[in-house]
Amino acid sequence: MHRVRSLTINGQRVAVDAEPATSLLTVLRDQLGLTGTKYGCGEGQCGACTVLLNGFPRRSCQTAVGVAAGKKITTIEGLARNGKLHPLQQAFLDEGALQCGYCTPGMIMTGVAFLRANPHPSEADIRRFMQGNLCRCGTYPRIVAAFRRAATIKSS
Ligand code: FES
Ligand code: FES
Repeated sequence: MHRVRSLTINGQRVAVDAEPATSLLTVLRDQLGLTGTKYGCGEGQCGACTVLLNGFPRRSCQTAVGVAAGKKITTIEGLARNGKLHPLQQAFLDEGALQCGYCTPGMIMTGVAFLRANPHPSEADIRRFMQGNLCRCGTYPRIVAAFRRAATIKSS
C-alpha cells in the first residue's frame, strides 16, 4: 500500500508521511505534536487515546493511519470553537473532574459522541457508555457529574 501523505484533522488538511499500518496515535503525537491524545495502554483497553473518526469514537492506538486517511479526524485540540471550550470540556473544569488529567482527553472525546447521540442521559446511561474509559485516579463520580452538567448546559 502507498504511504499516507495527508490527513484531515480538526478541519484542516495536514501533511504526514507514514506507513499505512502505523497507528494513528503515533502519527498524531510523534509527527504532528498533537499530544492531547494520550498513550495509555497501547492495547485498546483504556480509552486514553480516543479520537473521533467521522464523528465516532475510535481508539487511535488500534487504528491504522491508513484507515483514518480520507476521514474527518477530531482530536481534543479541535473541540473548542472561537476560543470557547466545548460544553463537556467546560463541565469537566467546573466539576473538577480530573486529578492527573491523563484520561481526560479520551473521556471527553468519547463523551462528546455519547452526548450527541444521547442529549439527556441518565446516570446509568453515562456509566454504561463510559465503562471502556478508565481513570486510574478514580474520579468517576465527578466525571459523571460533569456529564450531567454538560447535558444540562446543552439542553438549556
Ligand atoms: S492507549 Fe489506546 S486504548 Fe489505551
Ligand atoms: S484523572 Fe488521572 S487517570 Fe483520570
